[in-house]
Amino acid sequence: MDTQKLVDQFRSNFPILQSSVYRKPLVYLDSAATAQKPLQVIEYEKSLYTTYNANIHRGVHYLSEQMTAIYEQARQRVARFIGAKSASEVIFTSGATASLNLVAYSWSEAFLRAGDVVLVSQMEHHSNIVPWQMAAARRGAVVRAIPITDSGEIDIEAYERMLQYGVKMVAITQASNTLGTRPDLKTMITLAHKHGAKVTVDGCQGVVHGGVDVVELDCDFYVFSGHKLYGPTGIGVLYGKSELLEAMPPYMGGGDMVDKVTFERTTYAPLPLKFEAGTANFVGAATMAAAIDFLEDYSALMEYENTLLSYATEQLQSIAGLKIYGTAPSKSPVVCFNVEGCNHYDIGMILDKMGVAIRTGHHCAQPVMDRFSVTGMCRASFAMYNTMSEVDALVSGVDRAVKMLR
Ligand SMILES: Cc1ncc(COP(=O)(O)O)c(C=O)c1O
Repeated sequence: MDTQKLVDQFRSNFPILQSSVYRKPLVYLDSAATAQKPLQVIEYEKSLYTTYNANIHRGVHYLSEQMTAIYEQARQRVARFIGAKSASEVIFTSGATASLNLVAYSWSEAFLRAGDVVLVSQMEHHSNIVPWQMAAARRGAVVRAIPITDSGEIDIEAYERMLQYGVKMVAITQASNTLGTRPDLKTMITLAHKHGAKVTVDGCQGVVHGGVDVVELDCDFYVFSGHKLYGPTGIGVLYGKSELLEAMPPYMGGGDMVDKVTFERTTYAPLPLKFEAGTANFVGAATMAAAIDFLEDYSALMEYENTLLSYATEQLQSIAGLKIYGTAPSKSPVVCFNVEGCNHYDIGMILDKMGVAIRTGHHCAQPVMDRFSVTGMCRASFAMYNTMSEVDALVSGVDRAVKMLR
């Protein structure tokens, strides 16, 4: 099937993309914030509630056993998707932020000492900065920022130099949610390991654009959210190497994460349940697995996202005074920009009235804004359901907005 037909077929699965806002066809260019959901995934979630709903792990009755099996199959599906050695290395959480807080807290309790250093890059989302700052404050450690260059890439020489000074953890994104940059993770992880540091990879913006193989990459931890992956909200994943997860204390206490509870001594369940206190989002986990099946059926379209990105980059540059932030050769499909003499928020508001949904502001990455000395940026982010004509709508919309604002 040719690419256009495949895009049309893919897009036809998303009811919301047929809708209008302010009587204009919706042009949804905010998939980096959350992806739209295909009908198959919506229907699957509904079928779980109508057919199997019962709490998992604790029941002896039929429905509970069925739902438990579906939940554990979802764990295996995620393990296969990311290339984990074992499903017990996959912890379900409420999202990437929860996963990062879990690893920052529990790993630090076991392994971070006073005076140790955690490196985070200057292009991280706040979710991959603040939990490390909180952990460092608790443990008497220090967080340092790996600088980025004017093109929005990791300054690899600076990184190598910084690794020599007591670094125990490197927290790095697979793809920046603002600059789009995909750092050379393989090199960064090899260097970190050479210096005895562990690596946490934030896969939020990477996993949906080409996936990951955690064993091949050799990262120690990997996180992502279901809702950016055409799946539901409120579900996410923390992958960790089993020897590390085994050595870490639990993050939250409660039901399901224990082996035996007495007032004298409580023992914990083995992996992965040690880190899954309380009723899990079992419907969310199973629905996310269905979204992964859906995504993998269309893996032939991955390259198409790069075509959209190149076209958008080229067309936007034709607007006088427009500056794009993040010009690395390897990018995920996001374009952040500002236009001279115009406020990013005003551009976003005018585009909205034309039916074009972009995001404006600091994108939960204030250190990136500081790096480029701006208060915010416009961001258009693309998914496999977007079309070239939607890119045209963005470009002509920005052009019109700029003429109105100047
Ligand atoms: C790179 C990156 N990391 C982490 C997050 C946090 O994800 P969530 O809000 O789903 O926990 C986001 C969300 O935008 C992101 O883009």
